Amino acid sequence: MIKNKEFARRRRDLMAMMEKNSIAIVTAAPERVRSRDTYFPYRQDSDFHYLSGFPEPEAVLVLIPGRAHGEFVLFCRDRDRDREIWDGYRAGPTGACKDYGADDAFPITDIDEILPGLLEGRERVYYAVGKDRDFDQSLMDWVNDIRGRARSGAVPPGEFIDLDHLLHEMRLFKKPAELTLMRKASRISAAAHCRAMKTARSGISEYHLQAEIEHQFAMDGASFPAYSSIVGGGKNACVLHYVVNDSVLKDGDLVLIDAGCEYHHYAADITRTFPVNGIFTSAQKAIYELVLNAQLAAIDVVQAGRHWDEPHQVTIEVITAGLVDLGLLKGNVSKLIDKGAYRDFYMHRAGHWLGMDVHDVGDYKVDNEWRLLEPGMVMTVEPGIYIAPDNTKVAKKWRGIGIRIEDDVLITRKGPEVLTAGVPKTIADIEALMAKGQGAKTA
Ligand code: GLY
Ligand code: MN
Ligand code: MN
Repeated sequence: MIKNKEFARRRRDLMAMMEKNSIAIVTAAPERVRSRDTYFPYRQDSDFHYLSGFPEPEAVLVLIPGRAHGEFVLFCRDRDRDREIWDGYRAGPTGACKDYGADDAFPITDIDEILPGLLEGRERVYYAVGKDRDFDQSLMDWVNDIRGRARSGAVPPGEFIDLDHLLHEMRLFKKPAELTLMRKASRISAAAHCRAMKTARSGISEYHLQAEIEHQFAMDGASFPAYSSIVGGGKNACVLHYVVNDSVLKDGDLVLIDAGCEYHHYAADITRTFPVNGIFTSAQKAIYELVLNAQLAAIDVVQAGRHWDEPHQVTIEVITAGLVDLGLLKGNVSKLIDKGAYRDFYMHRAGHWLGMDVHDVGDYKVDNEWRLLEPGMVMTVEPGIYIAPDNTKVAKKWRGIGIRIEDDVLITRKGPEVLTAGVPKTIADIEALMAKGQGAKTA
């Protein structure tokens, strides 16, 4: 759990970077209808959580550096005995101050009356325009309201600045308390993948392995999967965002699982690909070894001082050369790389930032150059090879093979730290783990 003093430190750090005489506004995530009067499980907006830890919808966080009556103002739902009986306890403005450290808190229903007064006289507003249309409109109305009173001396803000830039730069660098949660999310997710490997056997459905994975998440206290779990048997592994997960797993096929949990708002993101029956065929082995070599080579360059694109380039080089060796591509390796020939088989990037969001925030380029990797950043390394089942340009034995291997890597001063090392990825280790599993005994 992130402690209140850590949330307070984040607010302080953000306010220290804000321009003089400014105000920042962040809104909570809305609740979303799933069907008629039932809702998707609520998940707080990552920016809002990062700055407050406040877990409720219908809330607005306002930071006003230098305000005499307090710099951290929270608007939230009032306590409501009836609603609390049905939907859960609420902090209310009193709880917002007492339990979440707000200096001042008001009912969200009073925001139209109070927020214009907080905006008045502030020259700059830090706000992420375009995320919430209704709130964008309200904000413009409040500013217009102040403009309308200019003749009586009201001073409207003159400048809107994107809050994301400052805030997301902070989120990109993970502090020790965040890394504790990310390590835990990684450990839980790794254990879940091991469980799936041990359970796999032909005849069960993809959703059976999804259930094993998500069971482990829940048993370890992870609130949700960090994204929809992908369990693709055989050619389904060639569909990058396959989430239907309803086919039967077949003897002789591989299964690709891309799944990670969210633990106290922090994500893990792991992919493993393994044989349904516990033993790789020689064609599967050849492609698997190639993807693994690409992944290991890429992890080697996840080093402080290297730039963001280097791991990706390494995967392209290893994969292109390997595909030529195996006869899946023909020609000169550098020319094939220049032409992008690998894209028929490897059509995504080697990774992304990881944090509270699975595809986490943070710029990948600075001043139009790939940014340098620095300690505290966490990224995934996830090359893959996907051979379309209808690719008649390659020998039949390769068709329909889809393999991705994905780990989460923290950049440290001492080099890359693989947070998700708890789940095997060499052929020998996977086969050994599967041989111990329930799948092996009952096959
Ligand atoms: N699971 C989403 C991704 O790997 O990027
Ligand atoms: Mn990923
Ligand atoms: Mn993934």
